[in-house]
Amino acid sequence: MAVDSSSSTWSQRFEQGLHPAIERFNASIGFDITLLQHDLDGSIAHARMLASTGVISAEEAEQLVGGLEQVRAEAAAGSFNPGLEDEDVHFAVERRLITLLGPLGKKLHTGRSRNDQVGTDLRLWLRGQIDAIDAALVRFERALLAQAEAHVEVLIPGYTHLQRAQPICLAHHLLAYVEMAERDRARLRDLRQRVNICPLGAAALAGTPVPIDRRHTAAALGFDDVYANSLDAVSDRDFAVEFSAAASLVMVHLSRLSEEVILWASEEFRFVTLTDRCATGSSLMPQKKNPDVPELVRGKCGRVFGHLQGLLVMIKGLPLAYNKDFQEDKEALFDTVATTLACLEAMAILLEEGLQFQPERLEQAVGSDFSNATDVADYLVAKGVPFREAYQLVGGLVKTCLQEGLLLRDLPLERWQALHGAFEGDIYAAIAPRQVVAARRSEGGTAFEQVRLQLQRAQARLQD
Ligand code: ARG
Repeated sequence: MAVDSSSSTWSQRFEQGLHPAIERFNASIGFDITLLQHDLDGSIAHARMLASTGVISAEEAEQLVGGLEQVRAEAAAGSFNPGLEDEDVHFAVERRLITLLGPLGKKLHTGRSRNDQVGTDLRLWLRGQIDAIDAALVRFERALLAQAEAHVEVLIPGYTHLQRAQPICLAHHLLAYVEMAERDRARLRDLRQRVNICPLGAAALAGTPVPIDRRHTAAALGFDDVYANSLDAVSDRDFAVEFSAAASLVMVHLSRLSEEVILWASEEFRFVTLTDRCATGSSLMPQKKNPDVPELVRGKCGRVFGHLQGLLVMIKGLPLAYNKDFQEDKEALFDTVATTLACLEAMAILLEEGLQFQPERLEQAVGSDFSNATDVADYLVAKGVPFREAYQLVGGLVKTCLQEGLLLRDLPLERWQALHGAFEGDIYAAIAPRQVVAARRSEGGTAFEQVRLQLQRAQARLQD
């Protein structure tokens, strides 16, 4: 069966149509329709560039632009619905243009290949998504800052090895996540520069004899530069890997916070309660309130990390230049972006209205352990006792207290003095949790004034 060459995309070299299962297997239209707006933008820039170098007339260019804008309008109205036979978004648009404009529509693809076209579309799309993720990170940071500001005076046990270590400001703990989010933003800003390079004009792989002006299209599309090498232009997906790695780190940070919220909301901790806005019930156990939001965020890390691995493996064995394997980059990136954005939004909402910290319970937790033991040693050090000696003495003291069911603050002064003559009545003030926190004045430490400074700096950073 001969294919009708007027409707088929392929040249007259082809005599038979695709096997229907292969047509399905080959098509990317089911997902790359996401790139439609960027494909139209890229084609509009390309058509105007062709007129600027005299390949087509200015009038032809404007007719092509009119046709492309009509496709945009049809898509907005819901009447542009390409099917499998269109294969991908690039062919779907070109076909519709030819239907609308006749022979003129066939001039659009002059000096261009789908290889440089898809690379251009993907970069334009990702550039916008990076900006959306940046905005989502800012919202997440603001939510953290609001909670931090409200809890500068509230203490929480600080942990190492998930064992009570030293008390800290709750705000200090939350501000650690602000720092992570700022690094995430910096990474995205940095890699965005490498996303924003234009491959258009590389054509299939080698450039084109058609007199094109790559700087013209690049500038019209807001790119900072053009790829220097046409082979690299159509076969580079480093930017996709870099982005996936940056998104993976965003997810790592969200997941660590999620894990903490899940622990804090448990009966064992009770540091926070979940409000009805963000918690869910059990279908069976009426007493339960489940932290589904942080659990889902933690769980969704798997797919984002998986996409990073998938991209690396997909690319690693590919000879230059374009290979169809690259079609697999899209679903990975689309899902990475959608998942990361959804998780950032959910965690921001959780912080905005889903959590209530429990200051009384936190106070009780901080006051009922040995997390001030280091400060007893520090007290002796301040009085000239060598640290290692002080450390040994206090270790022994903690052991005795544990045997007797006492806390350090419960010991009478005679017992302190029996242990070491340097102890005086001020030991009680020195080991009170607020004093323990206030004493850690080193730069970046948890002392109240250090935390206020961090908070101010973080707020100022978000202003610019
Ligand atoms: N749908 C393809 C992709 O996503 C477009 C590029 C196809 N190029 C080609 N020579 N088959 O990568």
